[in-house]
Amino acid sequence: MNINKTICAAALGLLLSSTTATAKDGLDITFLGTNNCMVKVTEHKNIILLPIEEAAPEAVVNVLANGNIKQRLHVKLAVSRIDYYVPLDIAQYEGQKVLLDIQTESNRSLSRDIQDEACWESMKLSDSFDTTNREHFRPLFHHTPLYGWMNDPNGMFWKNGIWHLYYQYNPYGSMWQNMHWGHSTSRDLIHWEQQPVAISPNGLGTVFSGSAVVDHANTAGFGKDAIIALYTSAGASQTQSLASSHDGQTFDIYGGNPIIAYHRESRDPNMFWNEKTRKWNLLLASALDHEMLIFSSDDLKSWTLESSFGRGYGAQDGVWECPDLMQLPVRGTKKKKWVLICNINPGGPFGGSATQYFVGDFDGKTFVCDTGKDVSKWMDYGKDHYAAVSWSNAPENRHTVIAWMSNWQYANEVPTKQFRSANTLPRELELFTAPDGELYLSVKPSPETELMRGEAEIHTTTAIKPEGISYSLPEANGGICEIVLDMNLRKANTIDITLSNDKGEKVVMTYDRKSDTFAMNRNQSGITDFNNAFRAVTVAPTHHKTTRRTLRLFIDRCSIEAFDGEGHFAMTNLVFPTSPYNKISITAESGNAKINSAVIYPIHI
Ligand code: FRU
Repeated sequence: MNINKTICAAALGLLLSSTTATAKDGLDITFLGTNNCMVKVTEHKNIILLPIEEAAPEAVVNVLANGNIKQRLHVKLAVSRIDYYVPLDIAQYEGQKVLLDIQTESNRSLSRDIQDEACWESMKLSDSFDTTNREHFRPLFHHTPLYGWMNDPNGMFWKNGIWHLYYQYNPYGSMWQNMHWGHSTSRDLIHWEQQPVAISPNGLGTVFSGSAVVDHANTAGFGKDAIIALYTSAGASQTQSLASSHDGQTFDIYGGNPIIAYHRESRDPNMFWNEKTRKWNLLLASALDHEMLIFSSDDLKSWTLESSFGRGYGAQDGVWECPDLMQLPVRGTKKKKWVLICNINPGGPFGGSATQYFVGDFDGKTFVCDTGKDVSKWMDYGKDHYAAVSWSNAPENRHTVIAWMSNWQYANEVPTKQFRSANTLPRELELFTAPDGELYLSVKPSPETELMRGEAEIHTTTAIKPEGISYSLPEANGGICEIVLDMNLRKANTIDITLSNDKGEKVVMTYDRKSDTFAMNRNQSGITDFNNAFRAVTVAPTHHKTTRRTLRLFIDRCSIEAFDGEGHFAMTNLVFPTSPYNKISITAESGNAKINSAVIYPIHI
């Protein structure tokens, strides 16, 4: 690389002294002052490897091809050390002159010597990018991006046997920025294949959350069975844009965007076909007003605002985001009710982000909630379940949801670098009537999760002795496993279920008979000190009439998902044990509780 210092005699008359950094082929770097730098690509390769330091301030990287701006990225270019590299794909500009016009913060370096910063020495051209896993805490049976940052799941639909999952994605660092729609596909909701980025930022802004549908009847005019995506363009304002596709891989951005420009901050359009009214409906989060706007349409392009729901309802502390609305069966009856999903941040029951919902009726125009304004119901009682939305066009009338398995309180700081954040396991929703007469969401792991089970280790009926009972957990693959417990509290006040390792790290889960609750304490679960909000005890109501408790636990390197056997609660919490939990112990207090069965499945993936 020829580091070619063009000296711009600044108004202050300060001149830079001339030095030459390590030369690398194919990149010509010119320093133009205290905060501007141009990188000219002089040799064709597929990728520029950008060196990242997460503690560095963001630089604005304008990518130009033949003088036209193609991309504008915010990148934490390394100042003093390199945490990792991210690839900037320039293969698409082959045959054109590629230039990076980079603006660092004006106060980025107290001196004028930005050329001394680590990124210039180490920026390099390459033909490939190594995505081999480097992370100890990368889950094995949960979806993660190969590299980079992920938040909300977006635009999921099922078509021709394939589950499509899009997600809020930053390909240029493992912290939130530069929102694109990343894309992965699966045939079984468990094994995911990462696909090329599906939708990238354009002149209207970066690409925030949204939804997609399969337009069977060609109502939008993009063809029968076209895939229509609606997402938020986040520019100076948040407006709603449409894109269409035939394969889910590449999308054409609609020329008439934005299709909705509402005067208040509004985002995350979620649409579905309403069979009863034979129209499309769409929910849009009016984030700061704590309400969901309800629209209808015949053609997915022109939308009529019908009503809004939410002012004063449920948890109101944070912004309302990522809505969904679906009609669900009430278990054991022929009844169906509508459920409006509202992700809220902060304001969750244990701090930060969480998913609340409202049960009621919907006539295609207005949602009427069954309960009073002061009632809050939660889809998951852990700290790490956010932006949950459902797949559209799912087979067999399934209502399958997936969430982002993190919390905005600390998501950018969790102890991984190559990637940040996983999704939860996919889950199936319906409603059940609890002993208090209220309708609640039943949340169960999707049936596909059972296909991962290896050979079961079965422990049969036993009384829980005063000193407790322990079983060892599988060693393979960092201890990933599923544990199915069937227990009876009988006269005991509590049952404690503890996952632990040889380092004294542990997660304690407690069934309390009197309060009818299940709790999970991750205060000593392993690495917890990266953010003060991480330590937590989360608590769920169990809604049980009898003393029998059945529980499914999924452990996958950095997460524990607990599901009541009958779907009465789900609880998702991240954990970062420095070695895998290799023991489960069960103790009971003040009474003779028993284990009906304890089954431990290693997981094959
Ligand atoms: C929710 C959210 C959405 C927004 C997206 C941006 O986590 O804030 O409201 O569309 O993330 O990445």
